Amino acid sequence: MVERVIKLAYAQTNPTFGEVESNVEDALTLIRSTDADIIVFPELFNTGYAFIDREEVKRFAEEVPHGETCRALIEESGRQKKTIVAGLAEKAGDAVYNSAVIVSKGRLVGSYRKIHLFNREKILFNRGDLMPKVYDVEGVKLGVLICFDWLFPEIWRVLALKGADIIAHPSNLVLPYYCQRAMLARSFENHIYTVTANRVGEEKRGNYHLKYIGRSQIVSPKMEVLASASDDQVECKAAQINLELARNKKLTELNDIFKDRRPKFYSALTKPFF
Ligand code: ACM
Repeated sequence: MVERVIKLAYAQTNPTFGEVESNVEDALTLIRSTDADIIVFPELFNTGYAFIDREEVKRFAEEVPHGETCRALIEESGRQKKTIVAGLAEKAGDAVYNSAVIVSKGRLVGSYRKIHLFNREKILFNRGDLMPKVYDVEGVKLGVLICFDWLFPEIWRVLALKGADIIAHPSNLVLPYYCQRAMLARSFENHIYTVTANRVGEEKRGNYHLKYIGRSQIVSPKMEVLASASDDQVECKAAQINLELARNKKLTELNDIFKDRRPKFYSALTKPFF
């Protein structure tokens, strides 16, 4: 297979709660500053994370793709000829989802609604109701999962089995570095690239005080950390990645990590546990 090398970036940001216009403008500035082909932004990058209640989520949630944030990203992706993944609150009828959109070169490619909700998100958002997809973006197979999804390896495997080369991972991590360590395993066990785009800064709203831990990172199928960020700075960093490495699931002469799977022994995974 022919080697295909592209540039993948995370944008680690520090949005101010509720200041959608300036948060989006800051993000567009970062997009213009990088020569990466794919740029991944954090979860809820345009609004901030610490919503007080569901009514507040509803006030900020946008329809995909007609909301202002999504339209701004689509336009900028067209101007810059790039692919952008970014998290936002999505309104669909009466429901609100913690979602992420993929836009590329002036069009919406697809979106993802967070399946595994973290803590108060269970009160604020509806649970994702759609099967996650792998999107073909000019030959790059791209999937998306959001933040707390990191703790559920099954869903990463599903996207990898669907052919993902890269899983973009918009995040607002607050627990100390468990995720960043776990992502080495998620990348290696699936032989895929992962890019966790986390935010920095603090939010004090109502009774809630959250400190976000940064340390965004890009990890290779060989468990190498190709790029990593500080825990307190806004930064956008890219790494060159070779898609062929993610498509080769061979580990030894006699081991192919996908062909060696034994699904008949995994049936407990598809049964609910109460
Ligand atoms: C998280 O899922 N935002 C921790």
